[in-house]
Amino acid sequence: MNWVLLSYLIIFLCFLLHFPSYICLVCNHDDKYALLQFKNTFLVPNSSLAFDPCSSHFSMMESWNNITDCCGWDGVTCDSKSGHVIGLDLTCSDLRGELLGSNSSIFRLRHLQQLYLDFNDFSGSSIHSAIGDLVNLTHLTLSGSGITGHVPSTISHLSKLLYLGLISIDLLLLLNDPTTSYSEMRLDPYTWNKLIQNATNLKEISLGRVNMSSIRESSLSLLTNLSSSLVSLYLLDTQIQAKLPTDIFRLPNLQEIDLSYNENLRGELPNSNWTTPLRFLSLSSTAFSGYIPDSIAHLKSLSSLTLRDCNFNGLLPLSLFNLTQLDQLDLSENKLVGPIPTHITKLSKLSYLYLSGNMLNGPIPRWCYSFPSMLSLDLQDNQLTGSIGEFSTNFLQYLLLSNNKLQGNFPNSIFQLQNLKFLGLSSTNLSGIVDCHQFSKLRALVYLDLSSNNFLSVNFENNFDYILPNLQYLNLFSSKLISFPKFLAPMQNLQGLDLSHNRIRGSIPNWFRENLLRSWKNISSIDLSFNKLQGHLPIPPNGIQIFLVSNNKFSGDISSAMCNATTLYVLNLAHNNLTGLIPQCLGTFPSLWALDLQNNNLYGSLPHNFSKGNSFQTLKLNGNQLNGPLPQSLTHCTKLEVLDLGNNNIEDMFPYWLETLPTLQVLSLRSNKFHGVINSFHTKLPFPRLKIFDISNNYFIGPLPASYIHNFQGMMNANDNQTGLKYLGNDSSYTDSIVIVMKGQSIELERILTVLTTIDFSNNMFEGEVPKAIGELHSLIGLNLSHNRITGTIPLTLANLSNLEWLDLSWNQLKGEIPMALTNMNFLEVLNLSQNQFEGVIPTGGQFNTFENDSYVGNPMLCGIPLSKFCNEDKERATRSIVDEEESGFGWKCVVVGYACGIMFGIILGCNVFFVGKPQWLARLVEVVLNMRLIRTNKKPYKS
Ligand SMILES: *[C@@H]1O[C@H](CO)[C@@H](O)[C@H](O)[C@H]1NC(C)=O
Ligand SMILES: *[C@@H]1O[C@H](CO)[C@@H](O)[C@H](O)[C@H]1NC(C)=O
Ligand SMILES: *[C@@H]1O[C@H](CO)[C@@H](O)[C@H](O)[C@H]1NC(C)=O
Ligand SMILES: *[C@@H]1O[C@H](CO)[C@@H](O)[C@H](O)[C@H]1NC(C)=O
Ligand SMILES: *[C@@H]1O[C@H](CO)[C@@H](O)[C@H](O)[C@H]1NC(C)=O
Repeated sequence: MNWVLLSYLIIFLCFLLHFPSYICLVCNHDDKYALLQFKNTFLVPNSSLAFDPCSSHFSMMESWNNITDCCGWDGVTCDSKSGHVIGLDLTCSDLRGELLGSNSSIFRLRHLQQLYLDFNDFSGSSIHSAIGDLVNLTHLTLSGSGITGHVPSTISHLSKLLYLGLISIDLLLLLNDPTTSYSEMRLDPYTWNKLIQNATNLKEISLGRVNMSSIRESSLSLLTNLSSSLVSLYLLDTQIQAKLPTDIFRLPNLQEIDLSYNENLRGELPNSNWTTPLRFLSLSSTAFSGYIPDSIAHLKSLSSLTLRDCNFNGLLPLSLFNLTQLDQLDLSENKLVGPIPTHITKLSKLSYLYLSGNMLNGPIPRWCYSFPSMLSLDLQDNQLTGSIGEFSTNFLQYLLLSNNKLQGNFPNSIFQLQNLKFLGLSSTNLSGIVDCHQFSKLRALVYLDLSSNNFLSVNFENNFDYILPNLQYLNLFSSKLISFPKFLAPMQNLQGLDLSHNRIRGSIPNWFRENLLRSWKNISSIDLSFNKLQGHLPIPPNGIQIFLVSNNKFSGDISSAMCNATTLYVLNLAHNNLTGLIPQCLGTFPSLWALDLQNNNLYGSLPHNFSKGNSFQTLKLNGNQLNGPLPQSLTHCTKLEVLDLGNNNIEDMFPYWLETLPTLQVLSLRSNKFHGVINSFHTKLPFPRLKIFDISNNYFIGPLPASYIHNFQGMMNANDNQTGLKYLGNDSSYTDSIVIVMKGQSIELERILTVLTTIDFSNNMFEGEVPKAIGELHSLIGLNLSHNRITGTIPLTLANLSNLEWLDLSWNQLKGEIPMALTNMNFLEVLNLSQNQFEGVIPTGGQFNTFENDSYVGNPMLCGIPLSKFCNEDKERATRSIVDEEESGFGWKCVVVGYACGIMFGIILGCNVFFVGKPQWLARLVEVVLNMRLIRTNKKPYKS
């Protein structure tokens, strides 16, 4: 029987039996074949997912076949009169493959009004311009499916759009393999402007991980044209670099605004005339600044306010605490000052209060301990004082008060909070004794951090009871522990353990080794560094990501059993007494980005099989006895930023082939047996990002490598466009450190400032002149050419190095006068010109007035202050330079200021830096996409 006959038969039966019309819909023939064709473009799903955002997974298309009527198919809605397909919902349908290619049959469904394709796997597909043919679309959502490419300009033809959802991550892939790299969509201003101008009824705009970096304020202000319709505006992680017009906050119907993770989106909150229905406002990780106005309290419907990690300053707005609907308040990571209000009247729904990372002072008010609806209280990283009161709320799940100036006794009422999951009370001045048996009621506890409480005695060592059965993270660093907490032994769920900076001695107990390999199946991070552990290294199991055991006394070989831990991200075995060879397998771990084996007694060669596409950013093998030539496979480490091979016995020519590494910033080959001439110039832009270049204490000969010096782009403009201090690396689990000779002393920098740019060629056998091009390295902070055979005069261009803080040219054969122009180097703190053949008068003025005798000794023909040898024209000069100083306004005051402003001074002061890791924005995107899924499943408009 063919389909025509069948259709007629159904219509006839309907007519005969008076069925309601929707049962008897007959699907349009062309639409049906378009759908069947669409079905055939997809692969049949086969993989099972570890994590699944879809509550149920259908292969909806299973019910699609050429026998049944398409209006009855899963996910298909037809118009009741015409039988045309007007709705297609393939959310969570496990579709995999290329979507919406130019000839996709979906574009033949001209009557479509609603098209939902979220949570499938269309990675790499882009939206074809034919989407503009579906002019009757009111709902278009493609979120969480990995769509990339340009949003076609024809999307502006969809003038009836009400809901647009394009969040460009592949959720299914991502949640099952977090290492997936994710690409993005692009949306240009032309398309955006047309769309906003044409689709004037838009209610909801959800764009995430769409590159809108060329969108400007004028385009954003077009949103005000949607004033009567716009209800939800979600623009997450869109790279917008513009100021948001304040009027957006005044659109009369807006209920939800989420603009988070747009680091360069600026703006301020309005002082008046806020949009009244606003329920949800999130501006996390944007550049919004200014005060949080008290008028924000006029938003009577506001239930969630998230302004985390912006630049807001001023007082914590007390009026906020009189809002009655507020359920979540997050003002963390700003620069807010003042106290938390002691008296509040309403705020009866508040469940989540996050104020961490500000400069709040005063005590924690009493209501925080007793607020009935409170689930989360995060006040850490502030300057709160006083003691912690007794808790009388029973529902609290998150309590984070770390890093405040709290004192007094450890509050015993905490041990009664049976619902507590997270407890962070590190770095306080609390005193008393905490014994592990007190935790017996906290059976829900997942995270416990009591680290760095100098006045608290933490007794976790002599207890065999089965406590804290659900604990996943235990942080007890700097807690004066002398042995491993035995209560960890029966735990199954442990994921993270930090026992660093304690006094644990002896070898690792057997139960700990056993657990590590067998019971702790989910362990991902272990930190035992800075103890006094000895004996053989513990073996990290497969599955672990972070393994830190540096600064102990471990000895013996690195066992080849280490090769099972292929999941490692960070491996730090530095500062132990390890011997033997480096296991070759380490070069093949796909995710390992930091490998630190420095200061052991390892010998043999480097791993010689660094695999293609590896993740290495930091490779520190310095301070061992490694020999042999360098493996050329290091060129596969294309993400490498720090390569430190100093203090080994490596015998090789200069590895010019490292020139091509695009992000290499630190290269140290100091104190090895490198030799030969560095005359290679093989790449157009060699070492494009290099900032620290240390090849001192080797056997290099020939001229200084002028071709490199001429091209070190990274040393020419490192300070430009930079606000504040930034350090290398982006992860709190490992920070790059480096030993450099700075101002004549060997110093270990625990973090590497990205502005630190130094060259050290000292203690080689370089000869010839100092290349003039050195004056182009404007960002250079330190230059050491000492102990070589350099001849000629000091090039005048050297005076252009206006950021230079130390300059060592000692023990060479330089001659001529010391150029007067060098006195313009305002930051020069250390100068060593000794043991050369300089002649004439030592210049005076500027920083030169601070240098002493030993900067110049061993130059028999040099004269003037501070040497005891006078010059003939001394008197005349001295008076002249004083006049010069006064005329140019350059006197002692400036010298002192200059001294204090040196970049390296910042390091010594130790500046705090926050790393905003990607996972945060990702988490929010995932949350938004998942929420939309929830919302959508509740309000599916066309399925009863
Ligand atoms: C229905 O589909 C099957 C399998 O693809 C095919 O063999 C058959 O010819 C189709 N029937 C009609 C009526 O198109
Ligand atoms: C689009 O909608 C309009 C108005 O409802 C209707 O007249 C028109 O036929 C529709 N177009 C298509 C292709 O369905
Ligand atoms: C606006 O929408 C209409 C109707 O779909 C379309 O014909 C027109 O081309 C669109 N204009 C722009 C600028 O896209
Ligand atoms: C606020 O609203 C009032 C009354 O509508 C109006 O007069 C005033 O100009 C508005 N202020 C701003 C800054 O828009
Ligand atoms: C909060 O409300 C109380 C009582 O209504 C009032 O006394 C107090 O001034 C209000 N605080 C602020 C900052 O508006």
